[in-house]
Amino acid sequence: MKITVVGGGYVGLVSAACFADLGHNVTIIEIDNQKIDEINKGIPPIYEDGLEEILKATVGKSLVSQADYHDLEDTDVFFICVGTPPQDDGSANLTYLSQAAESIGTAIRGAKKYQVITVKSTVPPGTTESVVLPGLLRSSGRTEESIGFCMNPEFLREGRAIDDFKNPDRIVIGGNTNDAIALVKQVYAGVSAPLITTSIKAAEMIKYTSNSFLAMKISFSNEIGNLCKKLGINVYEVMNGVGYDHRINPHFLNAGLGFGGSCFPKDVMALIRLAEKNNEEPILLKSVITVNEGQPEKIVSLLTERIGALSDKHIAILGLAFKDNTDDVRDSRSIPVIQSLLKKGAKITAYDPMATESMKRYYPNLNYKQTAGEALEGADACLVLTEWPEFKAIDSEFNRMKTKVIIEGRRILSLDGIEGVCW
Ligand code: UGA
Repeated sequence: MKITVVGGGYVGLVSAACFADLGHNVTIIEIDNQKIDEINKGIPPIYEDGLEEILKATVGKSLVSQADYHDLEDTDVFFICVGTPPQDDGSANLTYLSQAAESIGTAIRGAKKYQVITVKSTVPPGTTESVVLPGLLRSSGRTEESIGFCMNPEFLREGRAIDDFKNPDRIVIGGNTNDAIALVKQVYAGVSAPLITTSIKAAEMIKYTSNSFLAMKISFSNEIGNLCKKLGINVYEVMNGVGYDHRINPHFLNAGLGFGGSCFPKDVMALIRLAEKNNEEPILLKSVITVNEGQPEKIVSLLTERIGALSDKHIAILGLAFKDNTDDVRDSRSIPVIQSLLKKGAKITAYDPMATESMKRYYPNLNYKQTAGEALEGADACLVLTEWPEFKAIDSEFNRMKTKVIIEGRRILSLDGIEGVCW
């Protein structure tokens, strides 16, 4: 099939590469010329496990990136993967989405074949039908009989996105007609997973609800973890016992610093705003955010309890990324921790296997180190802020510290008796 993906960001690029890998002919429309160049040379502009191999195998054959909307008349399915960043009040900004709809419409004005426009960006329920559909019909001058509309949310985790694409728990396709849904189904013909078809609005809501539920599991574990800490109980023992219940399941019950990244904080806030706009009080969702916002300061308070006032203390930070296997620091819980430490006059050395360059955009003057051992040299205390698997192997390096006070914000070290923010 001929597929056009609008937006070569995280979701767009990974999806486009995987569509090409499935055997489709894929064009990525991207506004950033540097990204276009990199993609067309087979160089991934972002780090994602396995992406480079797919780009190398498909670029120049079945995958191409371009800046403008030319030669798209023969596209079967368009996927809109542009950003929907949060506005000041937390609601989603739909400017890029409506621009993409206008541009696709103009590009397919004269096209004769049946085409489907599929929104993959995370958007509030109703958006595809109230923003994309009318904008696109207007600019294309075509009728609803000749264009179908779908919403196909993505459930890809950064760092594991290619694997998530190839082995999804489910594929959700919401559509306005059976023909539209059937065409998008064909795109995924090579992927084996339960296929759930819904209304467009339900598909949009499934995405927000899934992310909010997962975020709720994390905040729930953190609330229980904070209590366990006071009671001298290890929350990981508790959640292990709880997670064996198949109605609960063991995943996403890891207590710690809370959730960061470009998705959970943004999507929970957007759902809160949506509820409020509809005169519903989102009690649970607001608590999910409140618990999450409190976790970074918990680790700083614990540190103060252990080593006293932080002024001029040397704190070694291991891990800056919002989670392991990514160089992404967006909304990373390490940011509020660093902010609080600096405010209290601490001196920081920091090490991350991948995210140092990204964190320099937030804190250019932090004392970044090349190895964990260098960061630990002479430190009064160490905070572990990301669950990097390589931290499991750290052992004798801790002997380089002045005083061996170690607190985990993410439970990852393999040393015995290490305390954590809530265990
Ligand atoms: C999340 C969802 O997991 C994906 O399904 C979804 O497609 C994606 O958002 C999105 O909307 O695009 P992602 O943000 O990449 O994926 O990362 P996760 O692996 O879900 O982790 C999010 C945060 O939660 C991280 O900071 C992680 O450390 C934290 N976390 C995760 C916990 O604190 N405890 C856990 O048990 C699990």
